[in-house]
Amino acid sequence: MKVLLTIAAASLLAASFATPALAQGAGAATYKAKCQMCHGADGQPTAAGKSMKALPLNSPELKKASTASLIASVTNGKNKMPAYAGKLTDAQIKEVVEYTRTLQ
Ligand code: HEC
Repeated sequence: MKVLLTIAAASLLAASFATPALAQGAGAATYKAKCQMCHGADGQPTAAGKSMKALPLNSPELKKASTASLIASVTNGKNKMPAYAGKLTDAQIKEVVEYTRTLQ
């Protein structure tokens, strides 16, 4: 038990040093690592995102889209949007889509 607690404490400590974004949850860290290069830190598409026709995440279309349909787009891809099935777990995809809601 003591060993487990020590491991838990050590990994918590390591995680908090490794990614300050962790304070906002795992979704934020995934977004930063995998999505930001196209969708921008604040949800406004970067030049790369724009060239592939990514909408701002706060566009009316995406605001009214259901979370389930956005999860489906991230899982299966959509036009130039890459598919993340097999690269992220279902739980990670859900977390990162929930994080994109905070950018709307
Ligand atoms: C290589 C660039 C690129 C990366 C990386 C990328 N996206 Fe996208 N994303 C796009 C483009 C382009 C679209 C627009 C697709 C369309 O509607 O034609 C899009 C669309 C979306 C949409 C809207 C889907 C819909 O149903 O209209 C969401 C939500 C989204 N991306 C989330 C993410 C998340 C979360 C990640 C990281 C896990 C991510 N994207 C990574 C390019 C990217």
